[in-house]
Amino acid sequence: MSAPGEPDRRTLMEFTSDNAYGVSPEMLAAIAEAASGPAASYGADPITGGLAQKFASVFEHEVAVYPLISGTAANALALSTITPPHGAIICHELSHISVDECGAPEFFTHGAKLVALAGSGGKISERDVGAALLRYRKGDVHQVQPMTISISQSTEFGTIYKPDEIRAISGVARRNNMKLHMDGARLGNAVAGLACSPADITWRVGVDVLSFGATKNGALGAEAVLFFAPEDVADFEFRRKKAGHLISKMRFVSAQLEAYLAEGRWLKHAGHANRLARALADGLTGVPGAEIAYPVEANEVLVRLPDPMIARLRAAGARFYDWSPSSNGRTLIRLVTSFASSEDSVQRFLSLARK
Ligand SMILES: Cc1ncc(COP(=O)(O)O)c(C=O)c1O
Repeated sequence: MSAPGEPDRRTLMEFTSDNAYGVSPEMLAAIAEAASGPAASYGADPITGGLAQKFASVFEHEVAVYPLISGTAANALALSTITPPHGAIICHELSHISVDECGAPEFFTHGAKLVALAGSGGKISERDVGAALLRYRKGDVHQVQPMTISISQSTEFGTIYKPDEIRAISGVARRNNMKLHMDGARLGNAVAGLACSPADITWRVGVDVLSFGATKNGALGAEAVLFFAPEDVADFEFRRKKAGHLISKMRFVSAQLEAYLAEGRWLKHAGHANRLARALADGLTGVPGAEIAYPVEANEVLVRLPDPMIARLRAAGARFYDWSPSSNGRTLIRLVTSFASSEDSVQRFLSLARK
């Protein structure tokens, strides 16, 4: 509920971020249930102990699971485990690791270089990765050594890598003795969008290490690093502790992850968010001056709208971010839907846009 005189938070046209939304009741209940008695600390509790098996059944593969509380920590710790200080990490120029983590990957790797590539819709291609690798001479002490490729799924632009695209990128990684990391802060939206098995867009197509996100899709604060090969875990546990991310009451993070996977909840949540993004995109298509900028495949819509329309929407209470500065009277904005976005907020946004 909102304070008297404030807008009702449940009906806001809130499209800034999936992080702006609350916590799913089932996941809150799981935290409350985990709080009912004492349990061993630092991940030695039974809920954390059961996660590997639960993730293994969802991913159809044995997996080492490390709960964390931020996506930045997941990315930075995962990348630092597979990339030495003299390494290079190939990624998209507008990926979260490149532009939104304050240099955490560079910091945690002790100075590995991010090699940021252009690419439409937030995706890098096998061809561009191959071309970038040609600039580096293997074993040349004067150059960083490409060790890792990192891709986001779904991307920061609301697009999705198809299994074949990931396989092609992991092929480049394999041929060059590199590892493939996936930033899956929105993995659920990708799995729901493709209606595939999580395996089909991860280990089965060559992903080695996954940052698995739940916070944006209904958790209070729960992420995890997943390693699909035990040898890749290497010194991760020491890195996690040294970075201050070995959580003493880990059971509360683990309880969220358990509830997230249970009964396919993560995919139901993501499917709802994706459907509303689709509804926004369909509704905006045909509105004079509106131009959908990238394929809407997950829960984000990047759309150019006329500046007066943007002002009208904001004046009526709609919230969203500008994604690039105004140009020729239009601005690219980003609309993000979540597990708790309402159909009503979408319809009100659309009717305001059509006015
Ligand atoms: C693609 C992507 N990766 C990772 C994150 C994780 O960020 P945080 O450290 O805020 O949990 C985000 C959050 O916006 C994101 O969009």
